[in-house]
Formats: sequence, C-alpha cells, structure tokens
Amino acid sequence: MKEEKKLWGGRFSQETDALAQEFNNSLAFDRRLWREDLANSRAHVRMLGRVGVLPSEEVARILEALDQIEREIEEGRFPWREAHEDVHMNIEARLAELIGEAGKKLHTARSRNDQVATDLRLWTKGALSELIAEVRRLRKVLLAEAERHLEAGTVLPGYTHLQRAQPILLAHWFLAYYWMLTRDQGRLEDARRRLDESPLGAAALAGTSFPIDRFQTARELGFARPMPNSLDAVASRDFVLETLAALAILQATLSRMAEELILYSTFEFGFVELPDAFATGSSIMPQKKNPDVPELIRAKAGRVLGSFVALYTVVKGLPLAYNKDLQEDKEPLFDAFDQVLPSVRLLARMLPGLRWNPEAMARAAKSGYALATDLADYLAKKGLPFREAHRVVGALVKKLAGEGRELEDLGLEELQEFSPLFEEDALGLLRLERAIQARSSYGGTAPEAVRRQLQEARSRLAEEEA
Ligand code: ARG
Repeated sequence: MKEEKKLWGGRFSQETDALAQEFNNSLAFDRRLWREDLANSRAHVRMLGRVGVLPSEEVARILEALDQIEREIEEGRFPWREAHEDVHMNIEARLAELIGEAGKKLHTARSRNDQVATDLRLWTKGALSELIAEVRRLRKVLLAEAERHLEAGTVLPGYTHLQRAQPILLAHWFLAYYWMLTRDQGRLEDARRRLDESPLGAAALAGTSFPIDRFQTARELGFARPMPNSLDAVASRDFVLETLAALAILQATLSRMAEELILYSTFEFGFVELPDAFATGSSIMPQKKNPDVPELIRAKAGRVLGSFVALYTVVKGLPLAYNKDLQEDKEPLFDAFDQVLPSVRLLARMLPGLRWNPEAMARAAKSGYALATDLADYLAKKGLPFREAHRVVGALVKKLAGEGRELEDLGLEELQEFSPLFEEDALGLLRLERAIQARSSYGGTAPEAVRRQLQEARSRLAEEEA
C-alpha cells in the first residue's frame, strides 16, 4: 500500500500488513465499474472547470488523459495494480502518472464515497436496462408460443396440488407466465426509476465547501436529479437491495417455469421434449436426456435470493454514513445479474424449440376425472345447490374409480342413477373441447377468452413500446 499512501498522504508511519491489504482490496471485482468511473470523472472535472474551481487547461489535460486511460483499458494494456485498492484508485493513480500535478486535482470536491455510490448507480441502471430488454424479448417469445398453440388448439391438463384439476389450453399456460413476467419487468422498471438520482457531490458525507454544481453533473451523467441529502447519498444501498429483490422474484418466476418443463419432460408425464441443444446425455445411461439447463435456472433462484440476503444483512444495523462494509455490495449485485441474465436469455432460446406431444397432453387432460367439475356445474345450472351437485358427482367419481373406469365410459342411464337432472346433453360435456370452451369468463381458458387475452397482451405491449 506504499504507493497509495504516497498518493494521498495521511497520518500513517507504518506499512499496511500484507494480508490486511489483500483483504481490503476490491479491484478484482470493482474493476467492472471502470466505464462508469470514467464517466463520473469526466462529468465531475467538466463541472469543476465550469464553476471555476479548475482552470480550463487543466480540465482539458485531465479529459485527454481519461480518454487515453479508456483506450488502455479497452485494449487490455492498462496497468492494473493490486497496490491500489480499487478501480477508483487505479484510475486516479494512472492519471497522476500520465499528467502529474493536474491529475491529482481531479479528486477536488469529491470523495470515493460519493464516487463509488455514483458509479454503482450508473452501473445498476445500465444492467437493469439490459435485463428489461431481455425480459421483454422473452415475453414476446411467450406471446408467439401462445398464439401458435391457440391456433393448434393444444390442450394441457391444468393442475392444483399437482393433481389433475381441469383441462386448459397450452396457450393459456404460456400467457400465465407472460403476465407474471410483465409484473417482474415492472419491478425492474420501478427499481430503475427510483435509483435514478445522482449521489455525486455529496463528497465524503456532508457536502463540500467548493462551489460545485450537482445539478450539472447529475444531468451530464443522465440522472433525473441529484440526491437531496449528502448523508443519504453516500450511506444508502437500498437501490441495490431493491434491485436484488426484483431479481430474486424474477428468478422465482423463471424457476417455476423451469420446474414445469422438467416435470413435463419426464417419461411419467411425457408432454414435452427439450431441444437437444439445451439438454445433456448421461455418461452411463444411454436412454437419458437430462434437463440441465432448466435445472440450473431453477437452482439459481436460491443463489440470487442469497445475494439479497447477504447484502440485506450487511446493511441492516449499519450506522450512517459510509462504512467499508458497503464494499460488499458489489459482488452480490454483479453475481445476481450474471445468473439472471443468461437464465432469461436461455429460456427465450429454448422455448420455441420445445417439442410438445399434444396427444399425450389431451389424453392426460381428459383422464383422471378432470371433467368432473363440468358435471357438477351442469347440475348446479339446473338448480341443484352447488354443494349438493359436488356431492353427487363425487359419489359418481368414487364409483368409477373403484371400477377402474373413466367419465367417458358413462352412459345416460347410469348418470341418471345419480341424479334425475342429468339429460342427454350432459354426455356432450364429457368431451374435452366442450369443457374448455365452456370456461369463457374473462381471463378463462376458453379459446375465445384466450384470444381476447392475447389481444389485450398485444395492445398493452404496443403501448409499453410506444
Ligand atoms: N472500494 C470502496 C468501496 O467499494 C470505495 C469507497 C472507499 N471509501 C472509503 N471511505 N474507504 O466501497
């Protein structure tokens, strides 16, 4: 740490312990903030020039050197040095090396506390925008799949408690995830909107005696406004927590979809086959096709939530303002994006290649007495109180189950043994298409209701993109 102490002086007479220095160092991961750090420094130094804190020649020299540093980093020839503890110190040290005294003036009226908070907000904003675009892309894939399967009339057993409940359209299933992801995206957008304020100029914690213009730097960095309180600006990481919470909830949605694909692709279900490009074989069992990609997507939910919990625990109980604890904000944030982004991308690539098995799905959808509710509804429509109707059909199903028969095997006479209200038209109810068509309430699974749902999704999406 010798070099650092040379850069900024201070009350130290002893060298830092080597292990302590290594422990303190964040360069390995915060290097990722270099673009944001350069943008930050450019905005800051231009402002210092405009308000007259630095002469324009020095501002120009600093900007030129920052450009050179950018090229060096991009071309992989920047001298990253562990002796400087983080990305900020590395860039500043290089600046001093390149232009001497002028370089050392960049940090006037700025602290690493407002610097790192600003860099991280910028980075998070960019990462959120990238992720939002990917989620929207995935939603479009879901819409296309829903459309395709609505045309094809593909049917899926709907489950509750993972017991066959009522038949639904596969399009309806795709749209369920569409709306879930729409809300997930909304949470990302909310987080992005709320973090859109600049901490820069808060300095160490209390502001500065230099005549800085925080509105200028905020604007130049693309923030909506500067944060109104310097203490809050350097101490707060709720924007990271909120982002991580939104990521964890999003990953839970992806994980549920992944889980359904895993189940449905088993021999036991046999509803769908994963594209070869997204599954792996077994080294020992030649018959196997393992759903590794969905399994990892499912597992990442735990990891992303872990990131939230890790940072929450760091922040909770932390006195204002900056504490070194806050350096621990970056790895969970970076890691969460590194897990969620590919998960979203992979699902978008994998879904169109799924090979559904409509016959197996239809077979499953109509067996297991999945149409029993329709018979009960029939009786209720004829005036029998629904609870009574439920009891009648329950007895009927019990009998059939005992005999190993399905609802389809019923004739009218047998139905009438259970209730005289049953007439010829009741038999038609036991057809799958009828059962689905019947559920035409708003938001229901009938083809006409799903068509309307798709239209609503499309028009809201168009508004979103306008
Ligand atoms: N590497 C530090 C971090 O990530 C930068 C801020 C350091 N500020 C300080 N007062 N030590 O938090």
